[in-house]
Amino acid sequence: MLEKINELSQEINTFSALSNEDLESFRLKFLSKKGLLSDLFEDFKNIAPEHKKEVGQKLNLLKQQALEKYNTIKSSFLVTDEKSEGTDLSRSSYPFQLGSRHPISIVRNEIIDIFSRIGFIVSEGPEIENDDHVFTKLNFAPEHPARDMQDTFYISRLSMEDSNPEDILLRTHTSSVQVRVMQSQKPPIRTISPGRVFRNEAISARAHCIFHQVEGLYIDENVSFADLKQTLLFFSREMFGKDTEIRLRPSYFPFTEPSAEMDVSCKICGGKGCNVCKYTGWLEVLGCGMVHPNVLEACNIDSKKYTGFAFGMGIERLAMLKYQVNDLRLYFENDIRFLDQFKTAL
Ligand code: PHE
Repeated sequence: MLEKINELSQEINTFSALSNEDLESFRLKFLSKKGLLSDLFEDFKNIAPEHKKEVGQKLNLLKQQALEKYNTIKSSFLVTDEKSEGTDLSRSSYPFQLGSRHPISIVRNEIIDIFSRIGFIVSEGPEIENDDHVFTKLNFAPEHPARDMQDTFYISRLSMEDSNPEDILLRTHTSSVQVRVMQSQKPPIRTISPGRVFRNEAISARAHCIFHQVEGLYIDENVSFADLKQTLLFFSREMFGKDTEIRLRPSYFPFTEPSAEMDVSCKICGGKGCNVCKYTGWLEVLGCGMVHPNVLEACNIDSKKYTGFAFGMGIERLAMLKYQVNDLRLYFENDIRFLDQFKTAL
């Protein structure tokens, strides 16, 4: 009997189970009513009284050993069962947070889309520029106030008193890209330049030191102010709706002559007057004009043969009108409670 107990003890000791079935056959073999331990307890009755104490103790230890083995294997299976719950293929997936396009990107893409339908192609240029591309070639007089440190972020300036075409600065408008296009391409030119621009302004609800522009340029023979007006009317109706009217007010830019500012009829009140258009019925949208002959000449384009128009608009301004957001700063804070609201947009 003792020999048998030792034999079984060793077997129990070395037993391992890979599956629930293995464990169940272990239970049937050792621990069930018809199992080996039951048999041994049955035989125990026939043990001589003088051996009962010793054999009885060994037998109880063996039973304990088998039970312990069974329980530890079983609980290790339970742990892996819980883990494998994560791979239940029939479960619905975890909610996946989808991002959304930034409203500035949505409006920029819309503007690009409208102009590309009438043959304008996108050109890009550096944000860190020199005075030559941002001011000099665009007919800014050397003492023009835009060149002042108050308005322009300089990276390096040759002299604190005078501006110099080699001064390095952050572009204040994307007209600099158009200078680069004029210098490197021959007319006809039809291009728009979207991009970030920088001006040294105090940040408020209506102004920011970084904002985005889309500027356009069209140069060919016989380009007239009427072409400019029709192009802008087409754009405005695509952007703000079929019934939109435009008006051009005389203005001044060094690089265009004549220059104008364009208003569109207020789409909120339909021109009747409301607090968005400050009861005028009109909203100011962009600056434009006929490219100044000095600019064409500075970029080696024959101003006797070619004429052109240019326009430039702030993307934030259009986005504010489109979404009725009154505080410009919201576009730069990246608060997802704000950005989330544009999820359904393109
Ligand atoms: N560059 C001007 C600005 O930044 C906009 C503009 C572009 C005006 C082209 C006229 C013609 O304000």
